[in-house]
Amino acid sequence: MGKLSKYQAPSLKDARKRINKETNHIYYEIKDEYIGLGNGKTYLLKTYGCQGNLADSEKISGLLEAMGYTKARSDEDSDVIIFNTCAIRENAENRVFGELGRIKSLKKKRPGMIMALCGCMAQEEGIVEEIKKKYHQVDIVFGTHNIHMLPEYIASIYKRPSRIIDVYSFEGDIIENLPQLHDHPKKAWVNIMYGCDEFCTYCIVPYTRGKERSRLPKDIIKEVEDLVSKGYIEITLLGQNVNAYGKDFVDTKYTFSNLLEDLSKTGIERIRFTTSHPRDLDDSTIEVMGKYPNIMPHLHLPVQSGSNKILKKMNRKYTKEEYLEKIEKLRKSVPGISITTDIIVAFPGEEEQDFEETLDLVRKVGFEGAYTFIYSPRVGTPAATYPNPLTEDEKKSRLLKLNDLINEGFYEGNKRFEGEVVKVLVDGPSDKDPSMLTGYTPHEKVVNFPGDISLVGKIVDVKISKAYSWHLRGEILEQSK
Ligand code: 5AD
Ligand code: SF4
Repeated sequence: MGKLSKYQAPSLKDARKRINKETNHIYYEIKDEYIGLGNGKTYLLKTYGCQGNLADSEKISGLLEAMGYTKARSDEDSDVIIFNTCAIRENAENRVFGELGRIKSLKKKRPGMIMALCGCMAQEEGIVEEIKKKYHQVDIVFGTHNIHMLPEYIASIYKRPSRIIDVYSFEGDIIENLPQLHDHPKKAWVNIMYGCDEFCTYCIVPYTRGKERSRLPKDIIKEVEDLVSKGYIEITLLGQNVNAYGKDFVDTKYTFSNLLEDLSKTGIERIRFTTSHPRDLDDSTIEVMGKYPNIMPHLHLPVQSGSNKILKKMNRKYTKEEYLEKIEKLRKSVPGISITTDIIVAFPGEEEQDFEETLDLVRKVGFEGAYTFIYSPRVGTPAATYPNPLTEDEKKSRLLKLNDLINEGFYEGNKRFEGEVVKVLVDGPSDKDPSMLTGYTPHEKVVNFPGDISLVGKIVDVKISKAYSWHLRGEILEQSK
């Protein structure tokens, strides 16, 4: 394919700019000329990274199915393969490059197959340069801002085979009405906002996903009402910093707690939201969480570090003490709430005593789970230029020590449910043991139990017989719904 028919490369420098206060809302409608282009053809979508990417992938599937494509069973028999990528850490990127190499030969066997790469990696100029030079098997590179243009790119390649690289580094619009194909029959992601303006010094996201911009309340409420009418039971509201929802509205004052309250009145049975930012999580949100039983008693509240010195260098804009204060308020408002977090170890300048502060905070909060990471420098972010004298062994040993402590909290958090009856929304057969069903409790605990496949998508009462480090084991009491 080789020849470029379109070339717009990303620029991390442009992506940093925040100039326009107002946001364009574009109401999408697929053009008739794209419908049917995929008839009789199949697609495969490989998704890496966060829930934001999972939600984007459901839109990509929605677009492809609107064009007539159906899901392929494997790499070998798909006509379109799309990599929806993540740039948050180096190892996420390496995995994608490995996969791209692995499937290179497929194209020889199946000429006419289209390979595309999108998501956060596509927003980085270094990555796009590398793809342009070394990965000729990739036909389309598009970014996080132009998912809705995928049908146009595919149509153009069908007309005249060529290579398309089309990535925008601007603040971003809001594209409404994209078709979506939810992966789960009863659970749906609902984007409430896009982008991030926090600029934590380690993080690439504000560059790859544009400015913080909120969807209009009426569009979100309508989406949730539609989901309720279709029988959905659980929604997870998505944003990089959901607590900043509405801060970009120029002529109205409507905040995350207003939205949460309005959505809890739609009749949806379970509401979750992620990700929260400790600085922006406000009292009114904490209050609303305690008031409505359909807001689930679990909060993922990334702390990143327990050292005030490191928090400052990370540009997190809160202290360890302020974080602990919010936890106390949460526990008062939502008794029994389970709290999980994200922690980065070995951030540049983290000394032994800073790391000890993190361990101390973990002990004080009693997290019931955490995603823990070794700091990974990201080109274009401020922290990538900070000196980091720690050896790889030191970094790994901190991670291991932290994980041991986190696992203790995870187990303790599970143990408190032994003998209790919990409501489990059944996801499907367990991966490890297909004779068992698996699902989540309101506190976001995984429960495995014997049961009939017909229970998938229902909420059932399960009595917990035993807690393990990573999950609970139980027996069904009765079918409650
Ligand atoms: N290195 C390591 N971890 C990171 N995260 C974000 N950027 C980096 C980085 N450069 C982690 C943070 C964030 C989670 C999604 O990923 O903990 O909360
Ligand atoms: Fe990254 Fe910080 Fe924004 Fe989270 S809040 S996406 S860590 S910049």
